[in-house]
Amino acid sequence: MRMRNLLLVLGLCLVTTISYSKRSSAELRRFEHTPTTKGNDGGSVSFLVIGDWGRRGQFNQSLVALQMGVVGENLDIDFVVSTGDNFYDNGLIGEHDVAFEESFTNVYTANSLQKQWYTGKGDAEAQLSPLLRKIDSRWLCLRSFVVNAAELAELFFVDTTPFVEMYFTNTEKHTYDWRGVTSPKVYTANLLKDLETALKESRAKWKIVIGHHAIRSIGHHGDTQELVDKLLPILQANNVDFYMNGHDHCLEHISDPKSPIQFLTSGAGSKAWRGDVKKKNREGLNFFYDGQGFMSVQLTQTESTIVFYDVFGQVLHRWDVSKQLHLAI
Ligand SMILES: *[C@@H]1O[C@H](CO)[C@@H](O)[C@H](O)[C@H]1NC(C)=O
Repeated sequence: MRMRNLLLVLGLCLVTTISYSKRSSAELRRFEHTPTTKGNDGGSVSFLVIGDWGRRGQFNQSLVALQMGVVGENLDIDFVVSTGDNFYDNGLIGEHDVAFEESFTNVYTANSLQKQWYTGKGDAEAQLSPLLRKIDSRWLCLRSFVVNAAELAELFFVDTTPFVEMYFTNTEKHTYDWRGVTSPKVYTANLLKDLETALKESRAKWKIVIGHHAIRSIGHHGDTQELVDKLLPILQANNVDFYMNGHDHCLEHISDPKSPIQFLTSGAGSKAWRGDVKKKNREGLNFFYDGQGFMSVQLTQTESTIVFYDVFGQVLHRWDVSKQLHLAI
């Protein structure tokens, strides 16, 4: 090829349009992702999902990054999704923290990863700074937002941290920056309302909700009861296909017994092997892996494929879903 094609692809990536538009009803910021690298394959979207990763390459972060590069190339991915907790141990100290480059820019160096990174908010406010985009233009991190990918898939990023009551009651162990969250009750109620509106308006074939905390997990933190009570009913009522999260440093796949929703944890971007796996509440469990790795998602109008990989790029688990083509009403 290869050099010319490669340059072409890189050039196209740079002009990949991320335009910002706001709809009247929903308050969530919206981004249009138009994949430009695929040509005429009839409409498909593919991306990688990783979480809980920033440790300056340590704890196998570099190995995971290397394999993401390989899989990203094979699948010709459109973008990367991060499920949050991006910088350890305590997030970025400020927007000039060198950890940003040491744990992000200098680790995910493969050509195929030079795409937009849509990142859910982790633990520290500095990650939201627009300045970071000047240091590395791949970075896009907001509290809650929506990405519309070629009208095929819509990704709804939800800031799940204010839902977790423990963070407000047990402030000794957790220091969080709550700027803009005056009352968690009001904040989460508004967020849920905005999400519900956006889900109802969505015409996308695949609806994907992404948060940092798990709804269902048999890993260290287990289920997040606040999300089971407040978020899950909205997802079940609005034909959501996947809920993706990090927080537990593992890979797992659980099916919702009450709906077609698949719960997918990809929080194994660096430190893992916690060795804490719950024996109870295992209904719907398809797959659990305690070590490092990541996930890929491939979507077409009728098919979706989810694959989990370990640090060697070996496939650990694969899940295919087909949807019938329905005529628009
Ligand atoms: C890195 O990955 C290998 C293979 O899964 C594992 O044996 C090793 O313990 C991991 N290292 C760390 C620090 O987690």
